Amino acid sequence: MIIRQQIYDELKTLKVPADKTFGKALLPVIVRSIYQAGAWSELEVVFDCENQISGASVAVQYAQSIFEGMKAYKVNQDIPQIFRPLDHAKRFNDSAKRMCIPALPEELFLQAVNLISKLYENHIPSQTGCALYLRPSAYATDYSLAITPSEKYCFSVHVAPTLPFANEMISVLIERQNKRSALGGTGNVKTAGNYAAGFGALRRAQQVGCATNLWLDPVYNKFIEEFSLMNFFIYYEGILHTPKLQSSFLPGVVRRSIISLTKDMGIKVSEQQIDIDKLIKIIQSGEQIEAFSTGTAAAVTPIKSFKEVDGTEYIISQEIGRISKLLKTQLNDIHEAKAEDRFNWMQNIY
Ligand SMILES: Cc1ncc(COP(=O)(O)O)c(C=O)c1O
Repeated sequence: MIIRQQIYDELKTLKVPADKTFGKALLPVIVRSIYQAGAWSELEVVFDCENQISGASVAVQYAQSIFEGMKAYKVNQDIPQIFRPLDHAKRFNDSAKRMCIPALPEELFLQAVNLISKLYENHIPSQTGCALYLRPSAYATDYSLAITPSEKYCFSVHVAPTLPFANEMISVLIERQNKRSALGGTGNVKTAGNYAAGFGALRRAQQVGCATNLWLDPVYNKFIEEFSLMNFFIYYEGILHTPKLQSSFLPGVVRRSIISLTKDMGIKVSEQQIDIDKLIKIIQSGEQIEAFSTGTAAAVTPIKSFKEVDGTEYIISQEIGRISKLLKTQLNDIHEAKAEDRFNWMQNIY
């Protein structure tokens, strides 16, 4: 592959944007592949500003667009490593299938995330808690208002270095008003429209001091599903509980990893429906509970309380629980090469 000298020059002199908000410090060079005439092209390295897409494209008009979120780490390691890239490649293609986007060869996906991590190797932060966030996406680029799947697509990988998340507990709004998805809908894949559908609810959550929304099931409006960007866990009576997967919410890669780590510690994991009102009664009874969320962005985040939209608050715990802390540390130690990677989750970028 030929990479232009101008791109190497940019990478050499690059200054990371100062905005510390998650995902805002986007870097200017991307890796991409174009789909046309029935095939994905070889990868190329271009400036993001060269990757034009029209407001009248099928992606913008009809949201035929998918993405992944994953991280490359360079803490305590000479060669940067990506966490579970094949799992992300597979979920990317699950999303592609659901949104009628041509499957991307897994090999091409892996080459792309490795290549972009290599190009930015000197910009992967090496302080604990930091990483390079990778955002592979594929979107319909036909210049057309026809309501049919596009014939042309772009696959690209953007990156943004991330800083450590504050080690704070969060409050979450029980989202009883809106639904994020339906059974048989698109909740279990990462497609653009799912996220826009939650923005209004996020505003309401922030107004009552909550970091995110706790989404309930679309049929009975009472079984916990997930957060807007994370999966849900509670630990009580010696068992780790998490909602059983169904078509309305995302099978998180970190969720799967936490289940493996927990079972490996000899702790039982239950994947069943969790009724929010029964859980509130358990909290009110004073029983000792830990709750936390999991996701690529912040790994494991302990939950302090659930809130209702009128401000009523159910305090789960004021302190980070023992199991949450243990799981957070174990996962972090694998990311940062402080513990043996016994599940073979970390992949060298070359
Ligand atoms: C809706 C939703 N739920 C859960 C997650 C957590 O998934 P993962 O652990 O793969 O980051 C994410 C993030 O990708 C998400 O967008």
